[in-house]
Amino acid sequence: MAANAQTETVTITINDIEVQVPKGELIVEAVKRIGLEIPIFCYHPRMKPVGMCRMCLVEVGTKQQDGTVRMMPKPQAACTLPATPGLVIYTDTAKIHKDRKGVLEFLLINHPLDCPICDRGGECPLQNNTLFYGPSTTRFILDDKRHAPKAYPLSKYVTLDLERCIQCGRCVRFTQEISGDSELAFRHRGAEMQPATFKLGDFKSKFSGNVIEICPVGALTSTHYRFRARPWDLETKPGICTICSNGCNVWVDHRKGKMVRINGRTNEGVNEEWTCDKGKFGHDYLNSSKRLAAPLSRQGDSVTNSSWPEVYAKIAEAFKPGGNEVAAIAGGTASNEDLYLLQKLFRKHFKSNNLDHRFTSFLPSYEDRQKVLGGAPTVQSKIADFETAPSVLLFGTSLADELPILFLRVRKGWFYERTKVVVAYHEATEADDFASVVLRYKPGTASAVAAGLLALATGTGEMTPEKVEEVSGVPASALREAAAILGEGTLIASTRRLLNLDNGQAIAENLSSLAASREGAFNLYALTANGQGAEEIGILPDMLPGRKPIPARERGLGTYGILKACAEGKIKALWLANIDPFAAIGDRALVEKALETVPFLVVQGTVDNEAAAYASVVLPACAPGEAEGTFTNIERRVQAFPQSLVVDGDAKPGWKICSELILRIEPGTPVFNSREALAELAAEAPAFAPALDSLPGPQDDEGVFLG
Ligand code: SF4
Ligand code: SF4
Ligand code: FES
Repeated sequence: MAANAQTETVTITINDIEVQVPKGELIVEAVKRIGLEIPIFCYHPRMKPVGMCRMCLVEVGTKQQDGTVRMMPKPQAACTLPATPGLVIYTDTAKIHKDRKGVLEFLLINHPLDCPICDRGGECPLQNNTLFYGPSTTRFILDDKRHAPKAYPLSKYVTLDLERCIQCGRCVRFTQEISGDSELAFRHRGAEMQPATFKLGDFKSKFSGNVIEICPVGALTSTHYRFRARPWDLETKPGICTICSNGCNVWVDHRKGKMVRINGRTNEGVNEEWTCDKGKFGHDYLNSSKRLAAPLSRQGDSVTNSSWPEVYAKIAEAFKPGGNEVAAIAGGTASNEDLYLLQKLFRKHFKSNNLDHRFTSFLPSYEDRQKVLGGAPTVQSKIADFETAPSVLLFGTSLADELPILFLRVRKGWFYERTKVVVAYHEATEADDFASVVLRYKPGTASAVAAGLLALATGTGEMTPEKVEEVSGVPASALREAAAILGEGTLIASTRRLLNLDNGQAIAENLSSLAASREGAFNLYALTANGQGAEEIGILPDMLPGRKPIPARERGLGTYGILKACAEGKIKALWLANIDPFAAIGDRALVEKALETVPFLVVQGTVDNEAAAYASVVLPACAPGEAEGTFTNIERRVQAFPQSLVVDGDAKPGWKICSELILRIEPGTPVFNSREALAELAAEAPAFAPALDSLPGPQDDEGVFLG
């Protein structure tokens, strides 16, 4: 595989051209160095080669000492052939053309003539290879083809058409090598061989959508996308998945501005080419009938259609008291530009620091956050770092659920025998399958485990393994084994959900010290698409953009303080931006009381939610992709999301709503576009400055890392 190629080079000859390639590089990859392509079906550069389909046959010989070439009697599969000194390859001979025709003819014997009604039509490697290399006619006109169930629902996302399967094994290998759930396997043999789930049950993988994309025929298709479009009907634009905080790069396929499907887009540093099912199938809300399309304003018991000037006037009036009497809570799905202008509106024009984006039960203060990593960002590692780390500790997180693509990287490190993994969690997780040690603690005892690991690493502290066992139920021997694995350069991954645990702050501090004692890195990852951006931009009561602290006496209220003050009637106007507090906060009674009591409530969002029922005004905001903007993912990588979709109704980007309101409060030159909003942010937080080049796009795949 290309990824595993060694750096030592060898000289080989491809179609009479001498080239130097890394020793061991597969010939299917090596030919790309001189601009050639060998047709493939079963080979996939991110999986181990199996040589199953024989589509990649090449003629092979070896250079002899006298300069002659000794050819092998039979063609070889380029996807399993490593480069060795003196190898001679021919990819374009009459013999190879005949062999390719033969392979395709065999594949097509049983392949149904479904192309006109197959979802893969137009982007099907079998169609393409047949067109370029296959026979132009068939010799099997009157023969009866193999028949198998059509459109079998493998899961709610994936439909299997067995007649179309060419038995390449890509889907089976994906579940074994990449997602690791081994949900698919081959049953039967020969022409009857079929990919299937165990006991023919539901295909339960959290990454099942990827097999649709890697299947080289229309055997695995998307249940969502089936018969909704043909590839040539669609326009494809780059985008960023905003369902979680990994920031996976995706292709947004749309027809007339309406999202039709999401596919993985390659970014080696982020998601390689994969998506999780939450991301691939979780964007249906964009076309939901509950989308907010027009500003609404309360008239008595109901909210009715209004206009932007009317709602702006009402907001300007309601938020006039400013200071401690107004507040905003923002969700992490707004772009950097939206969040920046919201904080500008509140800080500069409403003179209020009552701002927050956090919903964990413990909200660390600026000083608390300083204690964790001495003021450094609580994110130290990039996603790709987990592929090469000698050891990884996953603490207090079910990574496959919370950060699915990071989970795939950690598993990849283990799969290629580079990384040893320790999992500490109160219940079973997918990562347990490949962990060297699992520390299964009783709920509520995570802090004892963190303290115990630190004590073992530093030889200090009172939490001996025996004490940890007594408190948490984790065997002392397992704790010792884990501490021995977590050696130099260990990476610790946890999420901000850690702050929901008792002693969450102490756990974070102990894990940070543990990482420091091993010259490793501690990461407390954000969970929402732009949760990290919200922190950098200062959607916090005690910090300005660029991580600048606010003096103690000027600080505002955090999420719970704001809600309590609303419930007590101390706050007169509350702005909820891209957040439904009923869904985000466990304390339902507090949310209800706060929203019922606050005299004026702004609900800004893309989809109708429970909070909107309490709103004084509802502001329809563009969804990601309907307006360009940047998002900061878990690893502090700023990535641009160009506009690809048509704006629904009268919705506006979040930054524009704030900019237009600012203009009404204080006449001046408003921010006219997202780039100007980002430029203002960059002036206050210079780490964002390099991201300016990414708007309006197209962006560099690397994105920009905040220094
Ligand atoms: Fe290959 Fe598709 Fe068949 Fe799976 S279903 S073996 S990916 S052709
Ligand atoms: Fe989207 Fe997160 Fe899944 Fe990536 S891991 S596809 S960002 S939901
Ligand atoms: Fe080489 Fe299938 S691509 S055998």
